[in-house]
Amino acid sequence: MQTKLWLLNKEKNLDEQLKEAAELIKKGELVAFPTETVYGLGADGLNSDACRGIFAAKGRPADNPLILHIAKLEEIYPLSTNLSASAKRMMEVFWPGPLTMIVNKSELIPQVVTAGLETVAIRFPSNPVANRLIALSGCPIAAPSANKSGRPSPTTAGDVLADMEGVIAGVIDGGTCDIGVESTIVDTTVPVPTILRPGGITREMLEDALGAVEIDPGLIKKGQIPKAPGMKYRHYAPQAEMYLIEGPEASQQIKNFVELAVGKGLHIGVLADKKTISLLPADDRIISHNWGSTKAELAEKLYIYLRRFDREKVDLIVGEGTTEADLGLAIMNRMRKSAGHNILWAEKGKLVKQSGKTPDFFPENLLK
Ligand code: TXA
Ligand code: MG
Repeated sequence: MQTKLWLLNKEKNLDEQLKEAAELIKKGELVAFPTETVYGLGADGLNSDACRGIFAAKGRPADNPLILHIAKLEEIYPLSTNLSASAKRMMEVFWPGPLTMIVNKSELIPQVVTAGLETVAIRFPSNPVANRLIALSGCPIAAPSANKSGRPSPTTAGDVLADMEGVIAGVIDGGTCDIGVESTIVDTTVPVPTILRPGGITREMLEDALGAVEIDPGLIKKGQIPKAPGMKYRHYAPQAEMYLIEGPEASQQIKNFVELAVGKGLHIGVLADKKTISLLPADDRIISHNWGSTKAELAEKLYIYLRRFDREKVDLIVGEGTTEADLGLAIMNRMRKSAGHNILWAEKGKLVKQSGKTPDFFPENLLK
């Protein structure tokens, strides 16, 4: 299949430029489009065959339900039943925006969208291209992130093509996504609204609007299954093995780690703070990406850097942790998953293994 690419021109009429893509959605084809979080792989959310196409294109496990995207607040009503007070409050405060709500589904929703669950995920994105595409298609658009299952989500049209060229009908190029990590998912069907996936709308923002908010224990505790089926899979993964170093002395320990790797002749990718990078020796086997001065900047660039390390063909990657406040919760969730939970803690002159494995070259005696 020849994948069409529509490069949007801000000077021209948006609806005109989206017409062909919307026609393809109406016909049951798959079209990738930008949102404020990441690129989505869209299909008519009320057409079961079209939605099955999404699973096939991504290689997505059938037990992982899809998010339905809407273009107006009131479009949630026919898709849901018994909206809770917290759901209504969140719609008012955070929509349109990077928030997905889990609500009780109505009879309109095909089985394949919810993977057999009684609830459905709904999001009203703020990106104007997404908004007009949904409106012109005349249906809710089912859209997971537009990557092959398990790969980092795409935040540019080029990254979509890298995974989906030849597999889907088209890609709308609307530039780089602002937020860079996927939407916050909140279960609104339980007595206390519960974060199933941290994202652009932070826990602090939700608490301000709603009072008490919980975090799905499956996101934090080992051995507990997450309530969002997609959160249990290894995810967001670059090709090279990745390790995460967290803790108060992460900078110094990243330097030691990098020097050990380079000493073994390995090419290493480093994703760290400017200060940490400044400690590293000049060596062309070290490819470092500075994660920026704010958490928003790190979130925006995280997947771009992980995908860049793939193209740079590094042998391994080491990332530096940040605190879990604000956007840090989403960033650390994604970084830990990217690293397959290979996590080391740096404190008091030592590195302590927290979970996962350590690289072969790493002498056990350097760990506690
Ligand atoms: O920012 C985003 O949310 C992006 C853009 C394209 O909107 N979409 C996205 O979709 O990240 P996806 O499919 O990659 O992630 C959807 C997550 C999965 O973890 C899935 O298991 C969960 O939402 N989910 C969907 N329906 C659910 C439900 N009824 N109950 C619990 N989790 C659900
Ligand atoms: Mg995804």
